[in-house]
Amino acid sequence: MIAQVVGFDKDLVLPSILVAFSVLAGYVAIQSIYYFYFHPLASLPGPFFARITDLYGGYHAWTGRHHYHLYELHKKYGPVIRYGPNRVSFNSATAVKDIYGATKPLRKSAGYRALLLSGNVFSLFTSIDKSFHGKRRRIMSHGFSDAALRSYEPIVQERIDKFLEILTKEAGADGWGASKNMSRLCAGLTFDVMGALVFGQPFKILEDESGLSYVIDAIISASRSVGVMVHLPVFGKNNILFKIRGLFRLLFLSLKDLKNIKAFLALSAKLTRERTAQEAAKTAGEDIVKAQGVPNKDILGWILAATDPETGEHLSLSDVWGEARVLIIAGSDTTSTSLSGALYYLSRNPVILNKLRTELRTTFSSEDEIWPGQKINSCSYLKHVIEEALRMSSPVGGILWREAAVDHVVQGVTIPAGTDCGVPVYSIHHHTDYFHDPHVFNPDRWDENIVGAEAVAAAKSAWIPFQIGSRGCIGRPLANMELTLTLARIIYSFEIRVDESKRGVGQADVIPGHTEFETKDQLTAETTGPFLQFKKIEA
Ligand code: HEM
Repeated sequence: MIAQVVGFDKDLVLPSILVAFSVLAGYVAIQSIYYFYFHPLASLPGPFFARITDLYGGYHAWTGRHHYHLYELHKKYGPVIRYGPNRVSFNSATAVKDIYGATKPLRKSAGYRALLLSGNVFSLFTSIDKSFHGKRRRIMSHGFSDAALRSYEPIVQERIDKFLEILTKEAGADGWGASKNMSRLCAGLTFDVMGALVFGQPFKILEDESGLSYVIDAIISASRSVGVMVHLPVFGKNNILFKIRGLFRLLFLSLKDLKNIKAFLALSAKLTRERTAQEAAKTAGEDIVKAQGVPNKDILGWILAATDPETGEHLSLSDVWGEARVLIIAGSDTTSTSLSGALYYLSRNPVILNKLRTELRTTFSSEDEIWPGQKINSCSYLKHVIEEALRMSSPVGGILWREAAVDHVVQGVTIPAGTDCGVPVYSIHHHTDYFHDPHVFNPDRWDENIVGAEAVAAAKSAWIPFQIGSRGCIGRPLANMELTLTLARIIYSFEIRVDESKRGVGQADVIPGHTEFETKDQLTAETTGPFLQFKKIEA
């Protein structure tokens, strides 16, 4: 009946489908032959499917193990790999400078556009255009100046107090607290800190696990799709796919995830509106917490007060909301992974743990003394433990794609304009040219007096947990503050032991015989454990 009305012949349906398939198959075959044999990158080595389709990288990103996979590929194919029809992965310190160096003619890959929540409203993190980024970075940097950082210290310390209380909360008669999943607990701390620093009030996840902890779940689940899309540049380049990217995201989300994400968006919008209104009423920017005689503000307080140096304009409400969301996401998950990672390695290396405790106990005479300043800066072993944890299990372990704006030479290879390239962080952090025994946790590798200046310089040239150049992490000093204070206070005051019943949870065996803190890469990382117990050291 329908066939009669629209006037088509049923007998032609099958042949038409066959013709359509043949045309599609022919197109794919011709394109693959082009990519494989005639494309400017055709001579570069790499897995067969990676050379003809981005779906190869997309699939490995979906597994969350693409950083470990790239490490294997670089071992097999050498320092340059074609990891997509128009994508090249490099594994050398020279490539780090050639790709991410501040003056190089590259910008963030179109894949980042797929991360936009609505329309074309870019944030500091997602912006691709260099001049937009430069202006936004100048405004945002007010929130990360030395003065701003000093104003955050008491807020961070207050949350660490709460965190330390929890470590031995349900302690038994022997003084050992109950086993804790440190990934979850550290996330409670860092999300609370970011809530307090961005909006002027902590989420209080540490106090009430059932309260706003959905914020953590919302961000973990939203990151799963983001972690894949950033490896599929077609979402940023093709306008139709860009418009329907929300449907792609749904593939990764359960109804509960959707509910959490919706609630997080509503909460962040409400807090941004309230905070902006406060600032407009000139009540913000005043002291939030009075401590150490430092006037305190939160990050939005600094940013709302800042103006564009050229136009003199303030950020709009939707821009501020966008930046606030990004700060919560970029600042919480990364810092909590670093903290859990450091605790994973310390809990499994008692000699290193004791050396660190000795340094802290000879520098400070009580835990209360542990504040930012000269004394903590003099704790070189603490610094090296953190550097080494960030090397071993970097919170951003994958490859951060940059697109060449013009033909550009990277590590001696000419990258045509429009091609994406990058250096996978896990691979270079475990490269034997820069790190002796790279799968061993060894903070001494950062000490010139032990391994020599040359070895440390080589290691530093390949250490990129925060990335380098103009797109490097703006929150690095804040992350350092949180990491040094929290670790110093834990190790100063608590004994640590591994919950043996869960020793293997959240552990990766990338190289036989070496266990590592596992990160599931989804632009940032999803982690579990370590499961640890704590006991207060008697004074
Ligand atoms: C140990 C903790 C952290 C690590 C390992 C880390 C790592 C990184 C990396 C690798 C990038 C570059 C991303 C890219 O190119 O796509 C980045 C950018 C960024 N990070 Fe962090 N981050 C950390 C903590 C923080 C904190 C605490 C904040 C904010 C409070 C923050 C805010 C940002 C922002 C806004 C950007 C974008 C900067 C720009 O494009 O100009 N991060 N971070």
